[in-house]
Amino acid sequence: MGIQAPLLRLEGLSKQYPSAEGAAPLYILKEVSIDIAQGESVAIIGPSGSGKSTLLNVLGTLDLPSGGKVTFGGRDLTQLDEHALATLRNSEIGFIFQSHHLLPQCTVLENVLVPTLAKGSPHGPESVERAKRLLQRVGLSERLSHQPGQLSGGERQRVAVVRALINQPKLVLADEPTGALDRASADNLAQVLVELNKEEGVTLIVVTHAPDLASKMQRVLELQDGKLVEKKG
Ligand SMILES: Nc1ncnc2c1ncn2[C@@H]1O[C@H](COP(=O)(O)OP(=O)(O)OP(=O)(O)O)[C@@H](O)[C@H]1O
Ligand SMILES: [Mg+2]
Repeated sequence: MGIQAPLLRLEGLSKQYPSAEGAAPLYILKEVSIDIAQGESVAIIGPSGSGKSTLLNVLGTLDLPSGGKVTFGGRDLTQLDEHALATLRNSEIGFIFQSHHLLPQCTVLENVLVPTLAKGSPHGPESVERAKRLLQRVGLSERLSHQPGQLSGGERQRVAVVRALINQPKLVLADEPTGALDRASADNLAQVLVELNKEEGVTLIVVTHAPDLASKMQRVLELQDGKLVEKKG
């Protein structure tokens, strides 16, 4: 394989939160530097409160770093304005959260198509085709007209996975995607994530407490005292 610019490059990334009443700020991320290539699958592990969600939010442009640099596909995110960040977030990044965040009054198919609406024009037939194909891929072709309340927890999370992929993002960020699932559903979702990572060539970064899920990723990075330590990869 030739030398290719990484999809994501973190250089000296830091994040601190101010604390109340003049106490010292909380230093959560301390000069984190790492490269992640297009198509890689990465688990981020670490104890509760170590900064995993903070890191994911910064990578997903939902939060700003306190210092350092994030380069995404050659663009320095710290130099983009809010409009440019929103466009990048909508078109190139997919999010999967611990709890699915589906719209309860919309059907499965409608939920999956929500991110395509952010582009400003109504979604075309190719979006609907892709949505149906991906829903079939994750075993939900018989559930297109169901509402989230009529699905099992694992099924809802699979809908959330398809929604994250609908715009063909370069990067999918998942924060504890199996956290609310039983063992069998968690295994099933982990398998779906791994297969879609391979089939779609999408870069996958998963925050997880589940050793099974972490071990399915090519790389495992652990947050320890504000630093990312490579455990596997
Ligand atoms: N907006 C905020 N203001 C102040 N402190 C915050 C804020 N958000 C997070 N923190 C603190 O930063 C630390 C890291 O939080 P974060 O949510 O990133 O942890 P985490 O590794 O995702 O934990 P968990 O595994 O429990 O989800 C925590 O100690 C938290 O209290
Ligand atoms: Mg968290």
